[in-house]
Amino acid sequence: MKRNKIIDILSAETTGSRITVMGWVRTRRESKGGFSFIEMNDGSCLSNLQVIVDDKLENYETEVRNLQTGCSIRVIGTLVASPAKGQSIELQAEEIEVYGWADPDTYPLQKKRHSFEFLRTIAHLRPRTNTFGAVARVRNAMAFAIHTFFQKRGFIYVHTPIITGSDCEGAGEMFRVTAFDLENVPKKNGETDFEKDFFNQPAGLTVSGQLEAEIYALSMGDVYTFGPTFRAENSNTSRHLAEFWMVEPEMAFCDLEGNIDLAEAFLKYLFDDLLKNCEEDLAFFNRFIDSSLLETLKTLISEKYERLDYTEAIKILSKSKQKFEFPVHWGCDLQSEHERYLTEKVFNKPVVLTDYPREIKPFYMKVNEDGKTVRAMDLLVPKIGEIIGGSQREDDHDMLLERLKETNLPPEDYWWYLELRKFGSAPHAGFGLGFERLIQFVTGLSNIRDVMPFPRTPGNVSF
Ligand code: 4AD
Ligand code: MG
Repeated sequence: MKRNKIIDILSAETTGSRITVMGWVRTRRESKGGFSFIEMNDGSCLSNLQVIVDDKLENYETEVRNLQTGCSIRVIGTLVASPAKGQSIELQAEEIEVYGWADPDTYPLQKKRHSFEFLRTIAHLRPRTNTFGAVARVRNAMAFAIHTFFQKRGFIYVHTPIITGSDCEGAGEMFRVTAFDLENVPKKNGETDFEKDFFNQPAGLTVSGQLEAEIYALSMGDVYTFGPTFRAENSNTSRHLAEFWMVEPEMAFCDLEGNIDLAEAFLKYLFDDLLKNCEEDLAFFNRFIDSSLLETLKTLISEKYERLDYTEAIKILSKSKQKFEFPVHWGCDLQSEHERYLTEKVFNKPVVLTDYPREIKPFYMKVNEDGKTVRAMDLLVPKIGEIIGGSQREDDHDMLLERLKETNLPPEDYWWYLELRKFGSAPHAGFGLGFERLIQFVTGLSNIRDVMPFPRTPGNVSF
C-alpha cells in the first residue's frame, strides 16, 4: 500500500499533485453546496489534512455521509489551493475507501476535550488525541537526539542486562524474576531454595544499568546505556513510575566536574534539538499545557546552571521563611519540595547539588577527603526537581568494601565490581537521566503517567 504522509504533504507537496492519504477521521461536517469537509490525521504530525468530498462521489450517500470521528479511510485525490484560513492546501477527493468504522455511540474519543485521567483508562486509543500524538513524537525525537549526542562524542552504546543478580542502588526495590511455580516454591530449612530456581540464585529486574556500564567504561572509555529500568517502590506520585527509561553515560578518566559539564551540555543539546525539530508539537504544548514552556527552553540553552554543594543548600533552606512539610537539617534527604524551592524560588534555573552526606547516598559514590560526604551530583529543574542523579564512583578497593558493609550489602555478590578496583582501577564518573522526567519537563505535562505510553504504577498494569 503506497501512501503519502501528511507531514510530507504539508511541508513539500504542491497543488496539482495526485496523492494517496490514509488515516483516521477527526471530524466531518457537511456543507450546503453539496459536499463534506473531512479533517483527517495520520499520526505523522499534529496538523490534520482537510479533505473536500463532492456529493457526486459514487459512495457519497452510502458511506461518506456516515463517516464519523475515529473511522479509518484511504483518500485518493488532487491537492488544490485552500481558501480556508490556516492552511495553504487541501485535498480534493476522487476516491474514498473506508477501512474501519467507529460507532459514534460507543467510540469514546468524540470532539469534546477529555481529562487526562479518563484518557489513561483508554491507553489503546489515547495516542489518537493531539496531546498523546505530540508526546509520542517528542519521545521519539528525544530518543534519537540522545543517541546522536553520544555518538557524535564517540561514546559506545552498551546493552546492559534487564535481568540481573545485583541491586545497583542497594535500596531493595527490585522486582523479583523467577520461574518457580508460585503454588509450590521449593524450600530448604524453611526458606526459599533459590538454588532450584532458573538462575540458581535470586534474580530481579534491573533498577539501573550503571554497574555494568562501569565495566565497559573501564575498558572502552566513554560508554552509555539507554534502556528500561524497574523499581518496586510504592510511591504513587506524579514523577514516579515502576517502569521507566534511563539514559546512563559512564566515563573513565572523568571526575565530578567533568560529569556535571557533560550533564549540562547534554540537556542543552536536547532542548536545542527539540526547538529545531519539534516546532509544531512544542507550540501545541506551549499553547495548551504550559504557556512559559518555549521561553523556558530557550533560556535554558544559553544560561549557566547553578552549582552548589549540599551543605550550602541546607544553609539556604534552613534560613528561608518557606514552611516545608519535611524539616531540613544537615544529613536529611532532600524532598521534592526542597529541590523545587531551590531551583524555582532561589535560583530560578537548573541547579546542580553536589557532595551529599554519605549516609543518604548509595555505596558506589566516591567518598570525599572529609570522610563525611560523597561526590554525588543531582541536577534539579523547575517543576520537577531531580531529573538527573549521578556521581564520581568509588575507585578505591578498600573504601568500596567498607561502603558495601556499611550499607549492609553482601560483598561476595559484588566480587566483580570490587575486582575492577583491583585491576587497572581508574577515576570514573557517570549519571542517569530519567527519560520520562525529561519528557515531562519539555512538554510541561504535570503527571509522568501522561508521558509514558503504557505507564506501570502501583496497582496498574492493565495495558
Ligand atoms: O537517582 P537515580 O536513582 O540514579 C541511579 O539509578 C544511578 N545508578 C544513575 C547513574 O549514576 N548511572 O535515578 C536516576 C534518574 C533520576 O534522577 C530520575 O530522573 C529517574 O532516574 N528516576 C525515575 N523516573 C521515573 N520513575 C522513577 N521511579 C524514578 N526513579 C528515578
Ligand atoms: Mg537520585
